[in-house]
Amino acid sequence: MQLQLFFPFPSPSPPPLPQTPTLIITSTLFSSFFFFFLVVLVLFSSHQRRQPKGKILPPGSMGWPYIGETLKFYTQNPDSFFANRRRRYGDTFKTHILGCPCVMISSPEAARIVLVTKAHLFKPTYPPSKEKMIGPQALFFHQGAYHSRLKKLVLAAFLPSVIRGSVSEIEQIVLKFLPTWENTTINTLQEMKRYAFDVAMISAFGHKRDSEMKGIKQLYQCLEKGYNSMPLDLPGTPFHKAMKARKQLNETLRRLIQERRGNEKAGGGGLLGNLLGAKNHKVDQLSDSQIADNVIGVIFAAHDTTASVLTWVLKYLHDNRDLLEAVTREQDGIQRKIIEENRRLTWDDTRHMPLTTRVIQETLRRASILSFTFREAVEDVEFEGYYIPKGWKVLPLFRTIHHCADFFPQPEKFDPSRFEVPLRPNTFIPFGNGVHSCPGSELAKLEMLVLLHHLTTSYRWQVVGDEDGIQYGPFPVPKRGLPVKVTPLQK
Ligand code: HEM
Repeated sequence: MQLQLFFPFPSPSPPPLPQTPTLIITSTLFSSFFFFFLVVLVLFSSHQRRQPKGKILPPGSMGWPYIGETLKFYTQNPDSFFANRRRRYGDTFKTHILGCPCVMISSPEAARIVLVTKAHLFKPTYPPSKEKMIGPQALFFHQGAYHSRLKKLVLAAFLPSVIRGSVSEIEQIVLKFLPTWENTTINTLQEMKRYAFDVAMISAFGHKRDSEMKGIKQLYQCLEKGYNSMPLDLPGTPFHKAMKARKQLNETLRRLIQERRGNEKAGGGGLLGNLLGAKNHKVDQLSDSQIADNVIGVIFAAHDTTASVLTWVLKYLHDNRDLLEAVTREQDGIQRKIIEENRRLTWDDTRHMPLTTRVIQETLRRASILSFTFREAVEDVEFEGYYIPKGWKVLPLFRTIHHCADFFPQPEKFDPSRFEVPLRPNTFIPFGNGVHSCPGSELAKLEMLVLLHHLTTSYRWQVVGDEDGIQYGPFPVPKRGLPVKVTPLQK
């Protein structure tokens, strides 16, 4: 999820210094933030003191009083932070970051316990500012009956049997974008965000083009700008502007919901259609704000994640020319068939792209844009012989599992052939696991396949600049969003 909605890794390197006027504002904001941060630290530090006799906490260091290991977490490469502790303490270890005592989980079996078998003991947890921005009634923030009711409706909107009908619309979006890239240098991440956003919009609102769509898009962009800003709701701050956009978005969505409620025929399908027609799925009707929060939430979850993964796909294919040629051969074969049969790309075609699919899988593993997720123990929990106190954060480390040499030999190597054989259970979890696992995984893969079909058969792309490396915005992506020059393929 655009976690922006999910929690990203911190950036291992500090951002460049801003210019003077910005510096003053920034330092004021910084002091306010620091004060806020201290309050949070003091509040949370109470967790550290409780430990009943005879109960053993997981091994690990809680770092300095109050600060814990936050500074190390923010100054080291996040991969080394986790790898060093895992080497020293094992698969399950404790630490203390951002004012929270945490238990890090890096074995597939333990992650499964947290996410699947004992999921009821570990609730999802997000900063209150994110809940406010997305909308408190969105499914990410809930557990139990309300969550299952919503999950049923959201899943129903993204089933393969439903999204197979969207292939031609997704293809139209691709065919609208590609010519605008021709013979120019594009910022891959930004373009992929635009693409994934348009796909998210048709999935959320269905095939009907409402006049509100343009306005909704603009408000979303405003909301997004403030999403990762400091949660300071003061006039002029990005957070304040984002909250204002969020309110306007709510009003627009409510109008749309009312309109569609009043005119069943207006329907329109998509996620909104499903949420409005809850009764058809034997689920109690939802209120307007429950619907609005979930539509906004799903669009958030859908586009930055997919865009970041697509950016990595282009990077890996660019750096592995033989693989790019092999993928192109696979896609050329499909294109020939489509031309012979005088038709357009179909869902069934996308089921016959084994190599391209493995490239996407390997990208999901290698880039692991969602490094981990957050849960919180809802009560004191006995866990693999250790004691996890109520209120502690528990983080299944997806990226660490995906980069473990025991499951993926030479983990740093980009090698799609790993997916030719069955994997060890629970070692590949880019879309999470259990009740909160991603309902959009099939849509995400579909939109990547459709884009790759047209891109590889008609274009080549050359990375501009020789700057290798990663930036966090908030997901890890290639530096500067991967600027590439796109040229049509001479056939
Ligand atoms: C490659 C792209 C994507 C990745 C890597 C991804 C990854 C994830 C992961 C790991 C989770 C579980 C988080 C947790 O357990 O805390 C999740 C949840 C979720 N994702 Fe995705 N996602 C992607 C695309 C999408 C798309 C396209 C949609 C929209 C249809 C979507 C909607 C959601 C929603 C609504 C949830 C919350 C589910 C719940 O709480 O029950 N995601 N995603």
